[in-house]
Amino acid sequence: MMTTVFENKINSADLEKKVKTMYEKVALHPEHEYHFEMGRALAERLGYPKQELNKIPEPAIDSFAGVGFYFDLVSINSGDAVVDLGSGSGMDVFLAAQKVGPKGEVFGIDMTNAQLEKSRSLRAKRDYENTYFIESHIEELPFISKTIDAVISNGVINLSSNKMKVFLEVARILKPGGTFAFADIVSTRKMPESITMNSTLWAACIGGAMQVNEYFNYLEHAGFSVEEVKENPYDFISNSAKGATKNYGIRSLSIKAKKK
Ligand SMILES: C[S@@+](CC[C@H](N)C(=O)[O-])C[C@H]1O[C@@H](n2cnc3c(N)ncnc32)[C@H](O)[C@@H]1O
Repeated sequence: MMTTVFENKINSADLEKKVKTMYEKVALHPEHEYHFEMGRALAERLGYPKQELNKIPEPAIDSFAGVGFYFDLVSINSGDAVVDLGSGSGMDVFLAAQKVGPKGEVFGIDMTNAQLEKSRSLRAKRDYENTYFIESHIEELPFISKTIDAVISNGVINLSSNKMKVFLEVARILKPGGTFAFADIVSTRKMPESITMNSTLWAACIGGAMQVNEYFNYLEHAGFSVEEVKENPYDFISNSAKGATKNYGIRSLSIKAKKK
């Protein structure tokens, strides 16, 4: 298995704690200020259609902390089974649920209790019977091999300390020819350990940004062919995050990858 030095060096238990603390706050207090933008204004700027957003629960949009729009890269059809890695408060799950309809199913995976509680309560209020929010890690997906039509994700994989494991799991659960469409943060230059070893900067979606060439190598190695890539109009807010973004060419990409 391919690994990178920086992925091995971060303390994954410490990272998980920081990520959970950060995204608990995002679920409970979307109105607070973070290193990153959030909410409806961000979603609309990234390209989420207003009329689609109007159909889903507003609190899920308030806590949206994704980094790009990728629904234009995947055709999600009635009856499909879809998995969202790191579903947060559920915005992308509810949007996908409209597409798969009553015969389909959308599974949101997350490890942060407050996010799961919020998405589950929104699901219950609006009777989204074709959605499920499951507590799990994206490195170990609770699905049988070759059963899923599409896997989606927004702003999450950069947070994982074992990205190869995530990609191999996605490849395992997808049906042959299935689509992995997602948005994530990458870097164009190698970052120093002062950033890649800093779990607070990881939790802010910067420290774990992998070098883009290596990222695509990982996807290929896991069994994907990358078919489309586009850059998103995404900016960080805090000065420390802006500095790292400028120095190391941090970018948000939307990626369509097909399972070979
Ligand atoms: C940046 S937020 C994005 C949430 C959602 N996709 C959105 O667009 O609003 C990252 C989410 O991924 C979850 N997460 C991060 N690492 C994870 C992991 N290894 N396993 C499961 N969930 C994870 C966090 O709990 C958080 O809810």
